[in-house]
Amino acid sequence: MPLAAAGMASFSGMNGNASESIPPDLILALRRAQRIVVFTGAGVSAESGIPTFRDALTGLWERFDAQDLATPEAFVHDPELVWGWYEWRRMLVQRTQPNSAHRAIAELARRVPQFTVVTQNVDDLHERAGSTGVLHLHGSLQTARCIACGTAHVFAVGIPDEPEGGRRLRPPLCARCGGLIRPGVVWFGESLPEDVLAGAFAAARACDLLLAIGTSGLVQPAARIPALARQAGARVVQVNPAPTALDDDCTWSLRGAAGVILPQLLASASMLPNAPVRGGQCAADQGRAGP
Ligand code: OAD
Repeated sequence: MPLAAAGMASFSGMNGNASESIPPDLILALRRAQRIVVFTGAGVSAESGIPTFRDALTGLWERFDAQDLATPEAFVHDPELVWGWYEWRRMLVQRTQPNSAHRAIAELARRVPQFTVVTQNVDDLHERAGSTGVLHLHGSLQTARCIACGTAHVFAVGIPDEPEGGRRLRPPLCARCGGLIRPGVVWFGESLPEDVLAGAFAAARACDLLLAIGTSGLVQPAARIPALARQAGARVVQVNPAPTALDDDCTWSLRGAAGVILPQLLASASMLPNAPVRGGQCAADQGRAGP
């Protein structure tokens, strides 16, 4: 199924507040969970300084909408504009650091028998925080390939040195066939990597708790993931300061910043009688997440 943005979100009422403590039944669900899926979007990286896709673009790109630049047509029409935008974003990501939400997710994984991180993000902040086996539905900024023959492009080591306001930049040419090199991300209208999508759907159908963090839930097919989990019997927690299209699929909506709420969730899980943790020993090592 090709990548597509929904025209409109349907919002449900709010049933949580950042300033409230974590609901006791959520704490219990977290403690008991054996299979957790964390499904993230741009909001989880916002506190690292990476703009979300709903933020206005700045500098050279202020006249554009992110969704207009993330298409094959945009690249064909103006490769220098699009390549410049991706190199600028690659620089931003490499200059920044994972935040407390990324770190809490990586830590939570150590306490749960089966834990899968599924992300729509093309940054590597989950991995740099310590998460492993992350399923990247929309590819990665750190990969690129020839638009004609598909040969992988190897980036020079180091952080791209782009001006703050961005610039147009000619894409490199393929060492094999001379074709234009394009970013290794999924653009609107393109298919997601089949194996990654299948892995994410399977994990969602098998989990008992799904955490949807910092995503607007507007872009398909990824946005189906929380509903798949709910339909298979899992409970769904959302962490987002704003209402989203996912509200109806959520058992709990925690309104607030991921960097604040995820450490609180981790602290709740850490109150397990059996829970971790000295010298890296944790509940997951003992084969269960909680009482
Ligand atoms: P969006 O930019 O659509 O949504 C970001 C969400 O993060 C919004 O719902 C914000 O309210 C929320 N948010 C902002 N700050 C937050 C914070 N500190 N903590 C928690 N949440 C916060 O990003 P995605 O849902 O990831 O695709 O968008 C999905 C896809 O659409 C992206 O992967 C991208 C985009 O176009 C491609 O580029 C292929």
